[in-house]
Parts: sequence; structure tokens; C-alpha cells
Amino acid sequence: MNDLLRLFFAIEVPKEIRSEITRFGATLDRSWKPSRSAQLHITLAFMAEVSSEDLASVIEAGEEAAAKVPVFNVAISETAVFPENGDARVLYAQVDGGQQLPGLATSLRQKLAGLTDNKKIKPHLTLARACGDRTARRVLRKFKGSWPVADFVLYKSILSQDGAVHETLQRFKLTGSAD
Ligand code: 2AM
Repeated sequence: MNDLLRLFFAIEVPKEIRSEITRFGATLDRSWKPSRSAQLHITLAFMAEVSSEDLASVIEAGEEAAAKVPVFNVAISETAVFPENGDARVLYAQVDGGQQLPGLATSLRQKLAGLTDNKKIKPHLTLARACGDRTARRVLRKFKGSWPVADFVLYKSILSQDGAVHETLQRFKLTGSAD
């Protein structure tokens, strides 16, 4: 039987910023479950079901996108929630990566057509998810973090009862030229 892979491309978050976010997560009330430090990331493209025969073309899409985009900066600014209306389910930090971040995500998604969804790209860094039956309240916090993005990663997400484990499959170095 051919197992389907759950994959996503994402930008890693540096250790210092993960530490700051972890400290912030500890201040949240119990209606929020903070993201685990090792799993903080900015998703570029998510693929729910990839057959092992398609893995090579996914890696090729990563290589092609990485060759087009130069190193760029991302900054996280303040918290917001999904969905915008109704009960908050995801608490995230807004991410600003100029034109390059949505450009990279779009480039990957175009090459992965059929494997990834066509949802509008909303660059974000998930800080916590609402849990239990309490109503998660909106939390305000401003972040000052910014960092240079020199690469991105293809992760395999393995679901288990204790939550997902993210295994690094491949790293792609950004080698595009800045114009
Ligand atoms: P997010 O938490 O930053 O939104 C791996 O599952 C990652 O892919 C998740 O952490 C999530 O990133 C992102 N993702 C995007 N669309 C998804 C979907 N439909 N189901 C699960 N994860 C999705």
C-alpha cells in the first residue's frame, strides 16, 4: 500500500524569537494551547496528501522556487486571530516579509498545483490554538522580532495522539539575485 505523505514548506523561526514567543505563550490563559517551540514556523504551502511518487516533483518545486528568490527579511509585528469574526480559534503573529514572502509562497503553490490548496496566502506565525470549550479571548501583544530568511524547509508532518511531529525532509537555500 502506498502511504500518503502530509507535507508542508515553511520558514523556520530563530531560537531567540522562539524563546520570546514561548515566554509569551506562558502568559496565556488556559483557553489557549501554545505552539511547541520546536514547531514554530511560517507556512508557505501545505499539502495534505502526497503520494511517494510525487515527492520528487515537490522537491523540484522547492529547488526551482529557491533559485528565484533572494535572501529577504521577515518581521513579526502583533497578534491577531483566525477567524476574524466569531470565536477565535488560532492566535497568530502577523508576519511582514515584503513582496518576497508572498512571492515565494505563490511560486511554490503554482508549481504544486493539484497538491496544495488555492486559499489566499495569509503569512502568519501560529502562536497558539484555542482548546477546550472555553471561549478564547483576543490577546494583544506587539513583537519587535525580525530576521533574515536565507532558506526554507520541506517538512513531513506525522500525526499522533500527542499532536503532530514535524520531520525535516529537505532544506532549500535561497539563491535568487536581488534586483
Ligand atoms: P499554521 O499552523 O501556521 O497555520 C502543518 O500541518 C502546518 O501546515 C500547520 O502547522 C499549518 O500551519 C499549515 N496548514 C495550512 N493549511 C493546513 C490545513 N488545511 N491543515 C493542516 N495544516 C495546515
